[in-house]
Amino acid sequence: MTGVRIAPSILSADFAELGDEIAMLERAGADWIHVDVMDGRFVPNLTFGAKVIETVRRRTALPIDVHLMVVEPERYFDDFVRAGASGLTIHAEVSPHLNRQLVRIRELGAAAGVALNPATSLSAVEEVLGELDLLLVMTVNPGFGGQSFIRPSLGKIARARAMLDAAGSRATLEVDGGINRETIAECWRAGADTFVAGNAVFTARDPGAEIAALRGQCVQRA
Ligand code: DX5
Ligand code: ZN
Repeated sequence: MTGVRIAPSILSADFAELGDEIAMLERAGADWIHVDVMDGRFVPNLTFGAKVIETVRRRTALPIDVHLMVVEPERYFDDFVRAGASGLTIHAEVSPHLNRQLVRIRELGAAAGVALNPATSLSAVEEVLGELDLLLVMTVNPGFGGQSFIRPSLGKIARARAMLDAAGSRATLEVDGGINRETIAECWRAGADTFVAGNAVFTARDPGAEIAALRGQCVQRA
């Protein structure tokens, strides 16, 4: 399907086999690799940093979509881009200088993204649409894989689509959290084009078939 990107999150991977998991995702037809960086402060959980991004980069040529669930994300921009990140997405809730931060990410040659928690209004990015390459609408409260999709997010996705279109923005509209065969189609119809999926892909007996099935759900926008 044109315009549909599936971005498996390695949060649900077997870390002892990370290299093989990346190669598997590439064979399985993933479009991007989504890397969830958590600092135990913005979110309760802790994950990984530049070393793991470097490891992923060594195993794939696919775009590496880094989701920074950390306070003071600017501390990591240089290292993460050097390690091979293709895009860096920072949370509006902990980024008081979004304009400066997005400009800096672009200067480093990466795609600049902003993520919004379920409770954060779209108005948080209204003034920086010109600097935005990606808008990530969180469909769970970030911190853990395997959570349930928050249904009121659908209205927000539709409003995000309308906001980007009205501004003439070509930014990617990504959703993350609880995306599976049951939830992806409605997100697609609401206007999302890029879908993070952790649990759905990694618990599948055949991740390739699962990615194809997820993609296959995205047909005909209303
Ligand atoms: C949530 C992370 C997600 C997560 C998605 O905090 O940002 O990327 O891994 O996992 P699933 O698809 O299992 O909800
Ligand atoms: Zn994520």
